[in-house]
Amino acid sequence: MKTSKYQSPEFLVPELQKAIENTLPTLDKDAVQILDIGAGSGLIGEKLRARGFTNLVAIDLSPKMLALAEKKNIYKAMVCDSLYNWRKHFAMGQFDAAVSCSVFTPGQLKPEAFDEIISLIKPGGIMAHSIRKDTYITPEYGYEKKLKEMEEAGKIRLLKKEKIIKYADDRANEYTVPSGYILVHQIVKHDE
Ligand SMILES: C[S@@+](CC[C@H](N)C(=O)[O-])C[C@H]1O[C@@H](n2cnc3c(N)ncnc32)[C@H](O)[C@@H]1O
Repeated sequence: MKTSKYQSPEFLVPELQKAIENTLPTLDKDAVQILDIGAGSGLIGEKLRARGFTNLVAIDLSPKMLALAEKKNIYKAMVCDSLYNWRKHFAMGQFDAAVSCSVFTPGQLKPEAFDEIISLIKPGGIMAHSIRKDTYITPEYGYEKKLKEMEEAGKIRLLKKEKIIKYADDRANEYTVPSGYILVHQIVKHDE
């Protein structure tokens, strides 16, 4: 019998940490300001905090999810709004890094949201996502195409594309189905 085990945060957070340490080595962990997009109940924030990152900001459009995250006392600030309204809350290039775990799906963030996200991050900073493999490669959804276009336009540079495995086979006690990607980019430049 196969059971679903939500593993994306476990894969995503170490890759984000590696990218931050490699590209922003002069910043203390306490100083690196990270935006958790679609933070939900705060799973990513918890894992970042456990690794020493404390300058964390959450944005999520669901008050119920943010209420769960708030109980954990992880984030310095929490914004209940859609990412698309970020200009009401944040400055351009405010963040050293932004992360989103399982938020890029057709019913949630669309490929154009990548443009919004890079505007929020300083040039040189980091953008990290987890996304289902089938969602990422489905041409009609446009996620892979959008990121490739941004890479080719010299706006972002791919640091890491890692296949992840989300489902565990209990009987075999080993992970069997590769089902997602961790994508880590460095921001090169914003739109003028
Ligand atoms: C699948 S959950 C993932 C939550 C968390 N990142 C995690 O991995 O546990 C997706 C979250 O994205 C939020 N979300 C969806 N669209 C959003 C948007 N446009 N702006 C901000 N948050 C959004 C939802 O409210 C939900 O909490």
